[in-house]
Amino acid sequence: MTQKFPKNFLWGGAIAANQAEGAWNTYGKSPSIADIAIRKDKLSLSNYSDAISIEEINSRLNDTVDLNYPKRLGIDFYHNFEEDIKLLAGMNINAFRTSISWSRIFPEDTNVPNKEGVEFYHKVFNTCKKYGIKPVITLSHYETPIYIVEKYRGWTHRDVIDKFVSFSEFVMNEYKDTVSYWIPFNEIDNLIRHPFVSAGMTEEVRDMSSIYTAMHYQFLASARIAKLAYSINPNNNVGCMITGIVSYPHTSHPVDNFKVQEQRHWIYETADIQIKGKYPKSMFQRVTKEFDVEITNEDIKTLEEGTCNFLAFSYYMSIVQSHEVDTETNVVNTILSRENTYLETSSWGWPVDPLGIRILSRDLYSRYEVPLMIVENGLGSEDTIEQDGRIHDSYRINYHKKHLLQLHDVIYKDYIDVCGYLSWGIIDIISSSSAEMEKRYGFIHVDQNNDGEGSGKRTPKDSYYWYRDVVASNGESLFED
Ligand code: BG6
Repeated sequence: MTQKFPKNFLWGGAIAANQAEGAWNTYGKSPSIADIAIRKDKLSLSNYSDAISIEEINSRLNDTVDLNYPKRLGIDFYHNFEEDIKLLAGMNINAFRTSISWSRIFPEDTNVPNKEGVEFYHKVFNTCKKYGIKPVITLSHYETPIYIVEKYRGWTHRDVIDKFVSFSEFVMNEYKDTVSYWIPFNEIDNLIRHPFVSAGMTEEVRDMSSIYTAMHYQFLASARIAKLAYSINPNNNVGCMITGIVSYPHTSHPVDNFKVQEQRHWIYETADIQIKGKYPKSMFQRVTKEFDVEITNEDIKTLEEGTCNFLAFSYYMSIVQSHEVDTETNVVNTILSRENTYLETSSWGWPVDPLGIRILSRDLYSRYEVPLMIVENGLGSEDTIEQDGRIHDSYRINYHKKHLLQLHDVIYKDYIDVCGYLSWGIIDIISSSSAEMEKRYGFIHVDQNNDGEGSGKRTPKDSYYWYRDVVASNGESLFED
């Protein structure tokens, strides 16, 4: 069996605009929900909810101490993107995922684009092109503009579909010469768990009927974007993206197993709609009958006409479902889980389960039979800078190596079409769930601490050189030692 990954495999890394760019209220950008996210060190059960009121939003918007909201500063990718992309290119990568911040392109609720924002992304994508790196672009990565929250209560209003589709159409046309991979929504299934983060839904509108309605609007937006994407450029690829969660039952108690099944349903149903172009029959009945979601005949047609042609997912860990929620229940990537005594955990309590990526890939491919792209995978950890300035992150190398070896089996033993692997937070950025800087995923270190102090200097870690060799050998170096 070859040790190489397939020809044209996409090797790369990923970030999101709101966790990296900074420049949150300059160069014409208006605030997004990420700019009011406060730091929640080591997220736990007590601070796990994302519920927030309009009053609280306004009070945070009026707070001018940017350090209280780390995503406002990001890692200042806005001013450093050239150096950062050059460093990324030093790892030989050919793909880079980031998002386009909606409120940087359209800072107000009008159809007048912000020229500086438009130009910024041109420069980013042209720099990628210079180094032979293909951008993979998320259109909504937990960064709904604040004006959408204040005026429409987030995605609860049907008009938001048109607004988001216009933004997407604008950027897909504007960047059609440099971008051909589009992901409408990051982890679309997260809306059910975190309606504010995913859809800007405030405390006032978080009932299940509003949640399923907002999800329906995002499905419609995704379908319209897919249809537009293929007409703008027949070479465009549009990916549905889900949170790749593998669930295990805690015991043989039937309820544990039921919860495993339910968890899977919640996530897979969202992919069913975007890839197969229609609601699973049972879900259709549930949302229309139990939750009064209005699904018109025209909506059904829209969903059929715009399907995604690849399935993207994040994968960090597996979780354990139990009929009991008690003190042993932990929060891993904003999801509740019991401890799994068979697995080691990261210092943030996330179980490390390389085989899970294989289990998940097999499950997804048997259901969808479209190319899979791993668009997030990585280990969040504190790093130590040695006296000589180097960072020996063997734990991170081990994590990626074990997952990549499983992925090799997925491709060659399970005969599954995997088209790419993008490591999450390839350069250190602000963490999403807890807005910490010291939770680092990067192969490139950024000299900045939780309080925003530091020179911002970028330093390759040991993992940088390791990944460089993996990519240069198209995976073959994974089999050395
Ligand atoms: C994913 C998100 O769910 O998890 C990313 O799409 C996020 O935005 C990643 O950064 C890791 O989570 P965290 O909270 O450790 O940054």
